[in-house]
Amino acid sequence: MKKQFIAGNWKMNLTLEEARGLAKKLCDGLADSEAVDVGVFPSFVYLKDICDILSDSKVFVGAQNMNREKCGAFTGEVSGEMLRDIGCTHVIIGHSERRTIYQETDSMINSKIKAALFNDLSPILCVGEKQEERDADKTREVVENQLSGGLENLTSEQVKGLTIAYEPVWAIGTGKTATPEQANEVHAFIRNTMRSKYDNDTAQSMRIQYGGSVNSKNAKELLGQPEIDGALVGGASLDSNSFLDIVSEAVRAS
Ligand code: PGA
Repeated sequence: MKKQFIAGNWKMNLTLEEARGLAKKLCDGLADSEAVDVGVFPSFVYLKDICDILSDSKVFVGAQNMNREKCGAFTGEVSGEMLRDIGCTHVIIGHSERRTIYQETDSMINSKIKAALFNDLSPILCVGEKQEERDADKTREVVENQLSGGLENLTSEQVKGLTIAYEPVWAIGTGKTATPEQANEVHAFIRNTMRSKYDNDTAQSMRIQYGGSVNSKNAKELLGQPEIDGALVGGASLDSNSFLDIVSEAVRAS
């Protein structure tokens, strides 16, 4: 069984003081938690502070996005090298908010994944269908296209250990979660797709997180599903108690 991975996506929230306070509470609350991997994804401007606070802890720190270029005239952008330089180990790529609000395409996402790997950052690749796509029975098609576009030309060595977050867009920030069965079914589909694209070993080495309105109440059932290896948590990661409760559920499910 894989170690579960619980990640908190703080999005564009919190003041610096709140972010620091939350990181300190997580550091204390997770003092001896070896059973699961935990990561937080603060806003760019807080990353260095949060990396410093969590440097002696087991909590990973990552960015919510990055630029695919190495360096240069890209006003307002942040490179993988910069993230690595300040102590980040992870990066979320292709979140649905980036795809829909900022028009990120699978090919942009693919170059970002390559740039992340080049800089030794572990990417969390987000995939997931919109409500109308689910209604039209296109979930598998959409997810398969996002996987093949996002991972184009990547070898099994490169994707081994990669994290994929299945986040149905209709469940993000809506309070509407996929049922554990619905989520497990898509996770199994993702695993099979990886098996046919690569091989069984590679597919088994990947962790597939579920994301979309995960909270301390529904975490137990979701994390108890055989194909769910963790969660990418938005809203509920902004409160230390609810995030720590989700981590405890992951420990119990392990
Ligand atoms: P949510 O966000 O938990 O607030 O639905 C999840 C995400 O967008 O990663």
